Amino acid sequence: MLKTLRAVSGLQGSLRVPGDKSISHRAVMFGSIAEGTTTVNGFLPGDDCLSTIDCFRKMGVSIEQSDDTVKIEGKGLDGLTEPSEILDVGNSGTTIRLMLGILANTPFHACLIGDASIAKRPMKRVTAPLRERGVAIDGREDGNFVPLSIRGGNTQTYHYNSPVASAQVKSAVLLSGLKAEGTTSVTEPYTSRDHTERMLRAFGCEVQVSGKTASLKGGQSLKGTHIEVPGDISSAAFFLVAGAIIPNSEITLKKVGMNSTRTGIIDVLQQMGADLTISAVEGEDSEPYADITVRTSELKGIEIGGEIIPRLIDEIPIIALAATQASGTTVIKDAAELKVKETNRIDTVVNELKKFGADITATADGMIIKKTDRLQGAETHSHGDHRIGMMLAIAACLSEGETSLSDSQAVTVSYPNFFEQLEQLQKENIGV
Ligand code: S3P
Repeated sequence: MLKTLRAVSGLQGSLRVPGDKSISHRAVMFGSIAEGTTTVNGFLPGDDCLSTIDCFRKMGVSIEQSDDTVKIEGKGLDGLTEPSEILDVGNSGTTIRLMLGILANTPFHACLIGDASIAKRPMKRVTAPLRERGVAIDGREDGNFVPLSIRGGNTQTYHYNSPVASAQVKSAVLLSGLKAEGTTSVTEPYTSRDHTERMLRAFGCEVQVSGKTASLKGGQSLKGTHIEVPGDISSAAFFLVAGAIIPNSEITLKKVGMNSTRTGIIDVLQQMGADLTISAVEGEDSEPYADITVRTSELKGIEIGGEIIPRLIDEIPIIALAATQASGTTVIKDAAELKVKETNRIDTVVNELKKFGADITATADGMIIKKTDRLQGAETHSHGDHRIGMMLAIAACLSEGETSLSDSQAVTVSYPNFFEQLEQLQKENIGV
């Protein structure tokens, strides 16, 4: 769908962004393999999480979903049934990688596919450790790409030293050890998001974390529970940056997830000089959340790299836009993982922002961005990547003249009501 967008004279108001995507996926998956009923509030009814529901229904789990509430009749890990249909994960990397970890425990055969973007994303990072621990997996190019097929089995004690800081890899390996004889542990170069560890505990499992290593003992079962999903900080990020860079703006985002493995965007915006207020912090013992208010700010360029990268990996497209409005130079490095996201996000960010006249250069592991006085409306394309689409829509709000955005419906993957909420915050949608 082609959308036409224009500069706005300010964004003002307060809103609740949709539920966290990572937590919503896990709530459905863990609820499905738990014993008893799980209820979920604040679920993200985006395309990716609906793909997860669809896959677990195909394995015999009864799941009722209506808007942001879900009820799952868990079948226990041994109660999943062999799917007669192919499990289609759509656009969702989290669904396929975590589900492979779960399927490593089940003795039946399953076949997994996804959309054109998933077909290009590397799966060896998960299939290699699972194979190493004895799971039968095959797929295109020796198990690196979909279609994949898996037959799980009895697994033993296993330690994996992951070369990448990836919660999808860490989670897949940990989940593959749920029925193992002995302990499963994963060490990563930097700590990635820890929603799996936190939520497994909420389902009654014991998970140990020591430094950059997470581990669990096999033979544990999950017990159905209630999960409250906070707002997704990765979705809030679009309005945090919009509020900071669009003149005459003040936006309050309510109940945004503040898990410290995800708050790199807050640290970076504060270092860049953004005027942010964080209040009403709650939920410290499970998944913390808070209200965040942002006001129009003078930003300055900074260097972003190292351990903070996994804490803001999904926010780099919108941080790049913020950097076009920041004095001096912003350098983003150590972020080669961007190349294997829904699109190659180094290329898509750089090429699309250049169309607005931004001074941005791709590097091998990131980008270098210099301030641009006024972005110019352009003909842009989401490339089917939800986060690229939303970043471009915010860029359009700031740019002189008109911007067209092709494939704008990609935003429904993680933020089905993004354009409605953007409109709600516009006092006047006029060219300036
Ligand atoms: C996710 C982990 C991240 C992130 C993705 C969601 C998760 O991927 O980019 O959007 O829910 O575990 P990696 O773990 O591959 O970095």
